[in-house]
Amino acid sequence: MKLPNINEARERTDKEVQYIYLNQEYNKDTFKNKKYFLRTYGCQMNVHDGEEIAARLESLGLTSTDELTNADVVVLNTCAIRENAHDKLYGFLGRCKHEKEKNNPNLIICICGCMAQEEGVVKELMQKHPYVDLVFGTHNIHELQDLLISRQNKQEIEVYSCEGNVYENISYKRDSSIKAWVNIQYGCDKFCTYCIVPYTRGKQRSRKSNEIIKEVKELVAQGYQEVTLLGQNVNAYGKDLENELNFAGLLEAVSKTGIPRLRFVTSHPWDFTDEMINTIAKYDNIMPYIHLPLQSGSTDILKKMGRRYTKEEYLTLYNKIKNTIPNCSITTDIIVGFPNETDDDFQETLDVVNKCQFDSAFTFIYSPREGTPAAKIKDKISLDTKEKRLHELNELINSYSLAANQKYLNKVVPVLIEGVSEKGQDKVFGYTDAMKLVNITNAKEDIGKIINVKITAAKSFSLDGEKEV
Ligand code: SAH
Ligand code: SF4
Ligand code: F3S
Repeated sequence: MKLPNINEARERTDKEVQYIYLNQEYNKDTFKNKKYFLRTYGCQMNVHDGEEIAARLESLGLTSTDELTNADVVVLNTCAIRENAHDKLYGFLGRCKHEKEKNNPNLIICICGCMAQEEGVVKELMQKHPYVDLVFGTHNIHELQDLLISRQNKQEIEVYSCEGNVYENISYKRDSSIKAWVNIQYGCDKFCTYCIVPYTRGKQRSRKSNEIIKEVKELVAQGYQEVTLLGQNVNAYGKDLENELNFAGLLEAVSKTGIPRLRFVTSHPWDFTDEMINTIAKYDNIMPYIHLPLQSGSTDILKKMGRRYTKEEYLTLYNKIKNTIPNCSITTDIIVGFPNETDDDFQETLDVVNKCQFDSAFTFIYSPREGTPAAKIKDKISLDTKEKRLHELNELINSYSLAANQKYLNKVVPVLIEGVSEKGQDKVFGYTDAMKLVNITNAKEDIGKIINVKITAAKSFSLDGEKEV
């Protein structure tokens, strides 16, 4: 048994990151004819971890099911970013408990992901949820098979708060055969004062570029049309390694693999260099779309958040990107109600939104996370005020999203067709190079292809279009 520890999770030492090449083989008869139910919450990184978890479960012979009632193993891959993530997990755990008590006493319930890295959560699981069989963390996903094989009939908790290593030779069961996630970096060292991620994901550690390029080349050979490079601060790629490419160099090298579409997420404004902007502008297969979290428009709040840029610096970067990369769409994340955010601070946020007119934005009410510096600040702002601010911000954001989409009306744009649309069996959906969602008629035979689409209608969150013939 190994429990998470917040003080260890906070640590950043000079200890060298280990690059470990896994060579694991398992017997597919271990869980023969058994089924797993996997649910993933949270960001793209967690989604991609889910693809690793699925491959690991299948290496033991398990097959996937969408029905909890058919499952022999349940894995809940959790997120800890805001309090509502906790509520979601405990809500679903209630269903799992019921299933185990009433229908399937042999059901194995596993919890992993960022919540498993939280000291308080794991204590609660031990005290109040003894029916949970296995808890493992973000640093030891590679132990999943061994933990499942060796477990006894008691709750097993194996969570490390170490700064982390880099594992190679990982297999994934990718959700799509058209677009793929590729990790370029793990962890985060920014320690924004509101954020739990540096504690749940460990020290920032970049993968070696030759491994990244090798993985992308394999994806190209398999016919993948799009790769998204993943990291919490992709712009800081390579800073933790000697003799390694920087992010601009990595983008260039990956672009040259010939992958039709290359994306990356998330960019931190602090590490965004001119060289990166020029590289994105230079290569046609690097998509003109940047997610550039603002968090707040108030320099004072940005300072309290530990974001390392001012309102003006953000605006300068924003304009530089817009002026250098033709038709670049920029989206953002904004937090309202950081402790003691004043009306003036909030007006500064609205001012940046008015100046930037983002293509879209994810907006959140600040949620205190145990163990982070901001959670200790005594906050005088009421939830009611925060909710009103969020509402006002969303109205503004949505009006700009609609305006940005309307610019596409009657234009012909390339779209990568991904699958059948939620809007009806006769339609397919896909994304433009600038990451606009389009629902398209008459293109069913084009799934997996990039085709030209004429935009016929624009809404706040999507476009409609017709295949251009
Ligand atoms: N690494 C990315 C962010 C990852 S978390 C970056 O720095 O941009 C995704 C988003 O969740 C953040 O951009 C932030 O807007 C939001 N978020 C993080 N912690 C939060 C908290 N405690 N309360 C509310 N929103 C939060
Ligand atoms: Fe969190 Fe800041 Fe790191 Fe993003 S950069 S993951 S917001 S600490
Ligand atoms: Fe959530 Fe962890 Fe991602 S906290 S947002 S799953 S890094």
